[in-house]
Amino acid sequence: MLRLAQTLQQQLVAAMARAFPEADGPLDPALGPASKPEFGDFQANGALALAKPLKQAPRAIATAIAEQLQGDESFRALCDAPQIAGPGFINLTIKPEVLAAEVRQRLGDPRLGVESVISDQGAVIVDFSSPNIAKEMHVGHLRSTIIGDCLARVLEFRGHRVLRLNHVGDWGTQFGMLITHLKQVAPDALTTADAIDLGDLVAFYREAKKRFDEDESFQSTSREEVVKLQGGDATSLKAWGLLCDQSRREFQKIYDRLDIRLSERGESFYNPHLPAVVEDLKASGLMVIDDGAGCVFLDGVTGKEGKPLPLIVQKSDGGFNYATTDLAAIRYRLGSDGDGSERVIYVTDAGQASHFTGVFQVAQRAGWVPEGSSLEHVPFGLVQGEDGKKLKTRSGETVRLKDLLDEAVERAEADLRRRLSEEERSESEAFISEVATTVGLAAVKYADLSTNRITNYQFSFDRMLALSGNTAPYLLYAVVRISGIARKGGALDAEPPQQLEFSQPQEWALVRQLLQLDAVLQEVESDLLPNRLCSYLFELSQVFNRFYDQVPVLKAEEPSRSSRLALCRLAADSLKLGLGLLGIPSLERM
Ligand code: ARG
Repeated sequence: MLRLAQTLQQQLVAAMARAFPEADGPLDPALGPASKPEFGDFQANGALALAKPLKQAPRAIATAIAEQLQGDESFRALCDAPQIAGPGFINLTIKPEVLAAEVRQRLGDPRLGVESVISDQGAVIVDFSSPNIAKEMHVGHLRSTIIGDCLARVLEFRGHRVLRLNHVGDWGTQFGMLITHLKQVAPDALTTADAIDLGDLVAFYREAKKRFDEDESFQSTSREEVVKLQGGDATSLKAWGLLCDQSRREFQKIYDRLDIRLSERGESFYNPHLPAVVEDLKASGLMVIDDGAGCVFLDGVTGKEGKPLPLIVQKSDGGFNYATTDLAAIRYRLGSDGDGSERVIYVTDAGQASHFTGVFQVAQRAGWVPEGSSLEHVPFGLVQGEDGKKLKTRSGETVRLKDLLDEAVERAEADLRRRLSEEERSESEAFISEVATTVGLAAVKYADLSTNRITNYQFSFDRMLALSGNTAPYLLYAVVRISGIARKGGALDAEPPQQLEFSQPQEWALVRQLLQLDAVLQEVESDLLPNRLCSYLFELSQVFNRFYDQVPVLKAEEPSRSSRLALCRLAADSLKLGLGLLGIPSLERM
């Protein structure tokens, strides 16, 4: 309905100008969706704001605007006569034949009426997933992976060129510790590929960290190792490469399973650019030395006793840190000699909010953020167990992603086998495995995406796998139900009649819901909240189910039958498209 809304907006602006030629400046109709379905499709509240400047009653203003609208032939073709309500709202109802024609246009259109942005801008960068080498990918990274992938899919579908960047933690002090430790306990791992597996690597990393914290001589050797690595020592670089490779392959298994595409561009990529960051901050006077460290004091960010907090960009030993790397990354990503991007989106847990506030502010003050470019942190809450505490295994360990995904699929399979035996259906093992895998992984993704990402999120297999409620299985089932109509003889892909005819309120409710898709996607593109898309799809499934339960489709007479089948088809296509944008494939049967 976005295009209809735009047309209405223009008609309203013109009507207002005709009604009140004496008013100066462009008049704002304040057009928005109707607050209740019984008020029609749209409502224009602009009369209220005009009461004061025009010194007239808002209802009289609304009436004058409505009269002008009614005098406009193109408006009369689009809407029923406007209704004035309350203190001076103008309620607008799109004509049924216009809605039906909108639906008709979307049939067979792969974009389902969603316009593509014509973009000559640089790529939109989505920085997501970004686990750390030699550490296990944890549930926080899973959230980032799922949310980031969905945002990238929506932006791509809208027509943007998207750079999906995996900013892996592949540089820094952790390698000094790890290499020092491995030299002593597993030297093979530093010279031979696959000498150890990632599980071991993670354990070695933990041991190394422990030694680093406890043993001063280990600490200083580790620091020397970092210097060697950063100085480009060949043996160190080889060892580093092997360790990265090993982690990378483990991460890739998770990405493959979840169908996630990412380009790796880790922290090490920015290493050559770090000195310039500090040099430039020094030269511009933003950086000062405080307690031996290079600091930029932040505007408006104060700590205890109201003292301004610094962003540390160079440690007292001369080394660079996470913030320095992010500053170098910003310069590269926004710079015309780098990516030339105008929008960079960072998907990380909310715990990093102050890091990004600081980094963004320093980049801004240093003049590295060109006019019109934006840096956006997309924070998300913690993943909690059903007890509201940090998600742990029964024995209290952190949950491994692989185990978590395995369990989702196993439980989906058990549910499916139970259902099949209740329904006395027999299906092939291949079918069972495909459905269980799809449903299990979809449930994990959807549970994450459907909650407002800012809040903490309680992980519950039972809830996410339920066939009812706002879950992936419920949505997948709606698609399956529509595919069932085709199997029962409803030719969903037959050429629909030129004029669709609807009469029942359930049909109109479905039509109106179907036509909201473009507005919802535009909202996700700007607000970066995937749960908006989830709620939309959930409502669409509910409205569809109500329609299908209460209105005959296959048994209806023509022309209703074809028109209703067309609605079924558009509902299926919309659900499939929406699920696809969430990174969830649809099933024909389940
Ligand atoms: N590696 C970081 C972590 O595991 C996330 C990196 C996010 N991206 C960035 N540009 N800082 O927490």
